[in-house]
Amino acid sequence: MKKYKVGIIGVTGMVGQRFALLLADHPWFEVTAIAASPRSAGKTYKEAVGSRWAMTDPMPSALENMMVQDAVKDVDVISKAVDFVFCAVDMPKDEIKALEEAYAKAECPVMSNNSAHRYVDDIPMIIPELNPEHASIIEAQRKRLGTKRGFIAVKSNCSIQSYVPALHPLRDFGIKRVLACTYQAISGAGKTFERWPEMVDNLIPYIGGEEQKSEQEPLKVWGHIEDGKIVNCDSISITTQCLRVPVSNGHTAAVFVEFENKPDIDTIKERWAKFSGRPQELNLPSAPKQFLNYFEEPDRPQAKLDRELEGGMAVSIGRLREDTQYDYKFVCLSHNTLRGAAGGAVLMAELLCAEGWLD
Ligand SMILES: NC(=O)c1ccc[n+]([C@@H]2O[C@H](COP(=O)([O-])OP(=O)(O)OC[C@H]3O[C@@H](n4cnc5c(N)ncnc54)[C@H](OP(=O)(O)O)[C@@H]3O)[C@@H](O)[C@H]2O)c1
Repeated sequence: MKKYKVGIIGVTGMVGQRFALLLADHPWFEVTAIAASPRSAGKTYKEAVGSRWAMTDPMPSALENMMVQDAVKDVDVISKAVDFVFCAVDMPKDEIKALEEAYAKAECPVMSNNSAHRYVDDIPMIIPELNPEHASIIEAQRKRLGTKRGFIAVKSNCSIQSYVPALHPLRDFGIKRVLACTYQAISGAGKTFERWPEMVDNLIPYIGGEEQKSEQEPLKVWGHIEDGKIVNCDSISITTQCLRVPVSNGHTAAVFVEFENKPDIDTIKERWAKFSGRPQELNLPSAPKQFLNYFEEPDRPQAKLDRELEGGMAVSIGRLREDTQYDYKFVCLSHNTLRGAAGGAVLMAELLCAEGWLD
């Protein structure tokens, strides 16, 4: 199989560093361009990151001496040098929109981790096991953008990557109401404890914009395509509270759910055990063998013990039991910078490659 040349935009950041590691030995993708802000442009990757390297694994040697380009000024150069880019930048929303659209219009598809384009109705927001069919909206998007190859595909917010997959195989029981409280790691804010010492022994009950994303995005993932648009699911009501907790990696969610037709506990566990999607069917390189994993132990899943399950690409679930106000409650966990960010985007790109959208 040919290797696709890829760029990483925002390569110096928390998600960008994850991309660097995940793509270092990728069987299908080869990093040939890296970019960040003007602060980093013109430096080698090693110089640009300096003491900000936040991963436990060392920086890939192939990237250490690669020159960082300017994500905005070098759009044309980068677009010509790669087959597509991964993008994870911390910039004002309107600037991210302009940046991603510039790459798409330069015929360079964008696999985005940013939220700026998540609510555009011809831009697919893909969790590969859940809604791979949304890729077909790319045709309509290309028409709007006037491109032949270029398009933008986004992955959803990290907070929803644990509870939406857990609820997904239960949808035919008629999910009516969901309440989810999320307990989110500091890497989700691009931080480590060294760079955010206020988080040691602390909890902050506010993450700007997160509750809106956590309530709205599942409805797009569960939406359907009609007349060149993704129409959100309107039959499920979701409310959330999102808290920042002193955990390095791994977002946990405490979930309550009410159904129209309440299934029994064994049926739910069986649905989770048997669930697999297109990535497993296609045997994509980053696909977990078992996506949803139920733990019978009452004190699991735990962020520190379970976030790395299947390379950080699996979802861990536990504590399923009846509730006095909803039908059931349970707890779930996913790695926010792997499944929830860079890993989820790499899996989405593998899916889009396998289905011919990146040729
Ligand atoms: N962390 C997570 O778990 C997570 C999960 C899902 C989605 N996301 C999303 O992914 C994006 C990046 O998050 P992060 O946590 O990786 O942020 P981060 O660690 O703060 O990194 C931000 C990146 O953006 C670059 N950047 C900043 N200003 C720029 C500019 N004017 N032009 C070009 N590049 C610029 C930075 O480059 P310099 O180093 O040169 O400044 C850096 O590479 C955000 O949209 C975030 O919402 C993050």
